[in-house]
Amino acid sequence: MTDRYHVSVMLDEVLALLTTTKQQPLLIDGTLGLAGHSVAFLEKYPGLQLIGVDADAEVQAIARARLDPYGDRVRLVNSYFDEFFADFASSGEKADLILLDLGMSMYHFRNAKRGFSLQSDDELDMRLDPSTGRSALQLLNEEDEAGIRRILSLYGEEPFAGRIATAIVQQRSQAELRTAAQLAELIKRAVPSAHRHGKVHPATRSFQAIRIAVNDELGRIERALPLAVECLAPDGVIGIISFHSLEDRLVKRFFRERTVTVERDKFKPTPQAPILTNEGYRSLLPVNKKPIEASASELEANPASRSAKLRVARVSAAEYPGKAVQ
Ligand SMILES: C[S@@+](CC[C@H](N)C(=O)[O-])C[C@H]1O[C@@H](n2cnc3c(N)ncnc32)[C@H](O)[C@@H]1O
Repeated sequence: MTDRYHVSVMLDEVLALLTTTKQQPLLIDGTLGLAGHSVAFLEKYPGLQLIGVDADAEVQAIARARLDPYGDRVRLVNSYFDEFFADFASSGEKADLILLDLGMSMYHFRNAKRGFSLQSDDELDMRLDPSTGRSALQLLNEEDEAGIRRILSLYGEEPFAGRIATAIVQQRSQAELRTAAQLAELIKRAVPSAHRHGKVHPATRSFQAIRIAVNDELGRIERALPLAVECLAPDGVIGIISFHSLEDRLVKRFFRERTVTVERDKFKPTPQAPILTNEGYRSLLPVNKKPIEASASELEANPASRSAKLRVARVSAAEYPGKAVQ
């Protein structure tokens, strides 16, 4: 059962807000995971075609088996979503619905054996796609102390980033740091004793930070958002579920810039908000003004939905004549 690995977050809300009247809509699920959301869309819209994108080939293999009954309605792409959207944007094909359910799947913490979980004896890798980029271990061995401190404080908002970075650099000069559990223990010893035994393990923020850095999670979101909008057909809808404030801040800022209603002759693209399509500039219309959060019953059933926020916007049918941004 896939539920053992991951419960899809805000499924009802996603289906209620990401809607289309097309008979044969195209959905791009940029974070396919174990395909919980995608299967629900395939069931709701019998004519729907799906492109399911995931950077993690191991996760995608499980999704492939689950999607088998839908035959040629499904195309799977093993890629980071920013790279996928860049390719797709130049293909000329357009999507009616795009979903990004950011972050990791429960599968990563429970089954992936790549050091995502604090308690594990897995080697510190943390890459979604272990065939490219630096593993967590390489990052922790190659960055200097200031670099590690910066990562912990920027991506983990870790108040003891300095102490932890010092401890990591000291440790690596004496003996190899190899597993997730070793790093978690090292961090626990590095923080002041009053902070060692709270409800949340003192290494949680650092693990999040290292994972974000290893996978360039925020950079990928920033690059993907404008590209994804380019991939939408007029009236197409994009929905994004974020799990921490750093992600949500990017989505919120992007939507704020793009959901401003601009009169045709007053439209002035800025370097922060150039949405240049073949037809011209487009703006987005917010579908929900405030981000949607999980209901009380979902929170009870799935505590992992606690910090999830869903923001949805529709490509305005009104298009703006554009000129190249200088
Ligand atoms: C929260 S899970 C998605 C769960 C899915 N919606 C479901 O209902 O089963 C996020 C998935 O996106 C993938 N992922 C995260 N960041 C990615 C990125 N930048 N590009 C492609 N896939 C990514 C992860 O490997 C993970 O499988």
